[in-house]
Amino acid sequence: MSASERMPQAVRLVEVGPRDGLQNEKAQVPTDVKVALIDLLTEAGMPAIEATSFVSPKWVPQMADAADVMARIRRKPGVRYPVLTPNLKGFEAARDAGADEVAVFVAATESFSKRNINCSIAESLERAQPVFDAAHASDIRVRGYISVVLGCPYEGDVDPEAVAAVAKSLFAMGAYEVSLGDTIGRGTPGKTQALLRRVARDLPVEALAGHFHDTYGQALANVYAALEVGVGTFDCSVAGLGGCPYAKGATGNVASEDVLYLLDGLGIPTGVDMTKLRRAGHFISRFLGRPPESKVARALDASAPLADAATDAVATDAAQ
Ligand code: HMG
Ligand code: MG
Repeated sequence: MSASERMPQAVRLVEVGPRDGLQNEKAQVPTDVKVALIDLLTEAGMPAIEATSFVSPKWVPQMADAADVMARIRRKPGVRYPVLTPNLKGFEAARDAGADEVAVFVAATESFSKRNINCSIAESLERAQPVFDAAHASDIRVRGYISVVLGCPYEGDVDPEAVAAVAKSLFAMGAYEVSLGDTIGRGTPGKTQALLRRVARDLPVEALAGHFHDTYGQALANVYAALEVGVGTFDCSVAGLGGCPYAKGATGNVASEDVLYLLDGLGIPTGVDMTKLRRAGHFISRFLGRPPESKVARALDASAPLADAATDAVATDAAQ
């Protein structure tokens, strides 16, 4: 850690399980289950919950019920429910569904951009401009995502300069925050810090978020590495749900329970309650028929099992 760098005083967690997690499930998850999951995450104290995405249902059928999800969740004042919007069509649908924050997503490599959103990086930024304009006209905040920042399934290593250039563009267009996505989880702590230090030359570190997938088991180490550089916002996924349909073999995001345990241990406040978060993780894991990916959830289950009656009741209600 250099003299000017220090750990953040508090961390904002952005729960992305309902979107990044469920977009990748083979089985169609019923709208009621998605809504119940989001409501449990709200109860757990998550300050931001990425609820769904307004993308083409031909590309990602799992998110086809986006408007229904937005209509049915119980929103808590002060909690953000961002949604992904790849273009103006998606933005307009999101706005009509009452979204208070949207996220545009671009890539750090041309090949991934083509596979994920069917256009070049330059075209994706051009497509994002009307989304920014319309969002700002409606007082809706825009978050920017950059994918494959620490490795691309098609191009391999990614130059931090390329990431910095895209981050700079998104910030200049009006993104309040840029989330740096290690889509295929290839990053290691040294590379993560080098990337963040490079991007932080062009953007305030407060405007950066870490989005680490755990494919190579490095995600929590990368969160810690990013904390050391002063990053104070992390995307995470309850029960470690997740992946990207256009990055073969990419597994889930870093588990929210694991990040929370790390931060609780460091004495860095988040406002999130571990027991309630575990309950949300159990609810969705039970529905999907597999145990949570979170190591912390598994360890706590062994030593301090949750009162199952509550989770069973919610799961049964939602599945009906
Ligand atoms: P395209 O086929 O090039 O676009 O797709 P198009 O404009 O030619 O439209 C094709 C059809 O889709 C048309 O319908 C449009 O109306 C419709 P048709 O005339 O054939 O009936 N359409 C839409 N429908 C609903 N909502 C919309 C929308 N836009 C067009 N917004 C497009 C381009 C961007 C739409 C497509 O490629 C797409 O939806 N891609 C989404 C990919 C995606 O969701 N990927 C996963 C999320 S990103 C991610 O996971 C990474 C992240 O987690 C960070 C990280 O880990 O790195 C964020
Ligand atoms: Mg992701």
